[in-house]
Amino acid sequence: MGIKYADVIVDLQYGDTGKGKVAHSLANFDDYDIVLRYNGGSNAGHTVYHNGVKVVTHQVPVGVLKGIPSIIGPGCVVNVPKLREEVQMLHDLGFDTKNLLKIDRRAHVVTHDHLEEDSTDEKIGTTRQGIGPAYRDKYGRTGTRMENYQSMFVNDLFSIIDIYDTWFVNRHPKRILCEGAQGFHLDIDWGEYPYVTSSHCTVGSVCLNGIPPHNIRKIIGVMKAYETYVGNRTDYTNENDPIFQAIQRVGNEFGATTGRPRKVNWLNIDNLVKAMQINGVTDLIINKADVLQEVGVFAIIRDSEVQKFPTYEEFKSYVESAIYDHMSGLIKWSFSPNEI
Ligand code: IMO
Ligand code: MG
Repeated sequence: MGIKYADVIVDLQYGDTGKGKVAHSLANFDDYDIVLRYNGGSNAGHTVYHNGVKVVTHQVPVGVLKGIPSIIGPGCVVNVPKLREEVQMLHDLGFDTKNLLKIDRRAHVVTHDHLEEDSTDEKIGTTRQGIGPAYRDKYGRTGTRMENYQSMFVNDLFSIIDIYDTWFVNRHPKRILCEGAQGFHLDIDWGEYPYVTSSHCTVGSVCLNGIPPHNIRKIIGVMKAYETYVGNRTDYTNENDPIFQAIQRVGNEFGATTGRPRKVNWLNIDNLVKAMQINGVTDLIINKADVLQEVGVFAIIRDSEVQKFPTYEEFKSYVESAIYDHMSGLIKWSFSPNEI
């Protein structure tokens, strides 16, 4: 009874680091009984290649693509009409969502009013998915939970469950893969406030979905070999730098949810170490170093200074030595859009 173990995927940057790919690659029947989305809503855009076909999910956990029962947890907010579209898209591609997709009754609903309010945002540069207003109403105790949502379509799409029963009443101990959304520097507390999202994006968020800390086995940090950020902060980078423009082009750094160009910067080692420490990362996946190889420039930022390296090998060994003391498991440099 209870939870056997939970492995957590956390983004150590500003979202868009390849969490979907990592979750898709790790989600195997042999290892996990359930995939859990623990924060955020349709602001996420998780791109995966399933048997060579590109699939972008926003709210549905990628476990569904692997036939694993998947839960949208109490830490999430749900846009039901958009979820409907997403489920239809997955259905058209041949995935069975009906029996696999479950939503905890405590998750909050993103309403039409939330969407309308967010649609005029000019300050933060949000994804305009109603996320801020939905979480505001949740914490203001005026929101609507999924258990109270009335729709004739709901039962065709997913089941509403109580996650407590799934974790603690069912006799079979569960092995859980936790798929996060957004990233450390977008976290409501740890990010560059107010240029943040409205949910918790650290490992702590997993515990808020009913998983006790002692059940967490691995904390898999996901990052890119450089940084990207989408939003209205003006102090983030020099967008006119031709090298950053080349990285944006080669790395196809355009938003999976909004299509906006992602602003590029070098990997900030100090910010990375902070994200690793606060999350207690055990293992690390570093994506897209191939983009730097193709552009032919390797650099990091440390103590606010840019440091360049003549070769990939020197860049790689510098990064590894800077982070080595802040983790206990493996570092994997991944060059593939499909696998880790
Ligand atoms: P995934 O899961 C990248 C950014 C928005 C904006 C800020 C607040 O794909 O990594 P919000 O709509 O959440 O109120 O916007 O957060 N943002 C993301 N950036 N990837 C995401 O998700 C993001 N979700 C939100 O661009 O700056
Ligand atoms: Mg994204």
